[in-house]
Amino acid sequence: MTKPGTPLYYPDYLQLDRLLDCQHLVSAKKDAVAHDEMLFIITHQTYELWFKQILWELDAVCARFGQEALAEKEVGRTISHLIRIVEIQRVLIAQIDVLETMTPLDFLDFRDHLIPASGFQSLQFRLIENKLGIRREQRVGFEHMPYETRFTESDRVRLRASEQASSLFDLLNDWLDRTPFLHFGEFDFWKGYRAAVDTMLAKDRVLIEQNPTFVPEKKTNQLRMLLDTEAQFDALFDVQKYEALREKGDFRLSHQALQAALLINLYRDEPILHLPFRLLSLLMDIDENFTKWRYRHALMAQRMIGRKIGTGGSSGHDYLQQTARQHRVFDDLFSLSTFFIPRSALPDLPPKVRQAMGFRFTDSAT
Ligand code: HEM
Repeated sequence: MTKPGTPLYYPDYLQLDRLLDCQHLVSAKKDAVAHDEMLFIITHQTYELWFKQILWELDAVCARFGQEALAEKEVGRTISHLIRIVEIQRVLIAQIDVLETMTPLDFLDFRDHLIPASGFQSLQFRLIENKLGIRREQRVGFEHMPYETRFTESDRVRLRASEQASSLFDLLNDWLDRTPFLHFGEFDFWKGYRAAVDTMLAKDRVLIEQNPTFVPEKKTNQLRMLLDTEAQFDALFDVQKYEALREKGDFRLSHQALQAALLINLYRDEPILHLPFRLLSLLMDIDENFTKWRYRHALMAQRMIGRKIGTGGSSGHDYLQQTARQHRVFDDLFSLSTFFIPRSALPDLPPKVRQAMGFRFTDSAT
């Protein structure tokens, strides 16, 4: 503790005495020091520090999103937090290269001392997942037990609390639900969009049917593909069908929220929709970066332990691959591209709506 009046001293401010005294090698206590265990500990600790920063940013994002109305200025600030998370994730992915300078044999020098501890027990990693919106039922099973079984009781309490709170996914859904412009005066986005889709699909059908270069087999195939596309749009336009797909887990956003996300993407060139579009893109970046990290981590695990089980007892590489596929949050934002139509086919915005969506500078002094 620095005495009052004494100038702040760098090592004290950062509590380096404590921070740099947290690397205790188990191998040193058991038999011979395993040189690479230091790298293993420091890498994990660095990850945990970055996880702490991600949680800090996520809390700020959720606090802003949790407000009844998210002012334009707040969207900009929310975006700054998300950009920071994305940049941290890039570091997290790149950091795997450092750990991979350790060879599988070097790892074997101390691996058995670690059992049954595992990254599976990273509380902060689980909190990030829950805060983003990973749901308990979508988690890859691990020894047929709830994922929190491997945590201490006090950590379990924190995990359950994080599941009870609104996740970023929930808050995004609510925010999209409230988005204006779906109906704005004479403008009915859904009606206009549907008419544009019908015209586009009818045109596609004519193009296939009248294409002189298509042999009959190719024509049949193309028409079958068009039917699939039509069926996907059908489910989008029929709320009951959409709800059935949502029940099945094919979609997660509410129907209204999905419409809003679509509007934001399709009309993103309108100034007022720039920031919301940026925000949706960043959420996709975050989802994608965690998936990239999961794949990189799974490959690293395979390289280090081959087909052995993990120190935590999972099937190792197979388990990790499955989580990479399954532990996604903002999947709907990715699937949205199915429903994009070319800019040229979009219904024109009535001048009043365009004006309301624009930014106009008026200098009251002149
Ligand atoms: C030699 C390096 C590493 C190997 C061989 C490895 C291996 C594994 C394995 C096999 C699992 C599955 C659970 C189990 O059975 O233990 C796992 C889970 C995990 N590891 Fe690693 N790991 C390594 C490094 C890291 C690092 C540096 C981190 C950074 C924090 C990390 C974080 C995690 C997390 C968060 C999980 C849970 C993943 C999930 O359940 O989706 N691991 N690891």
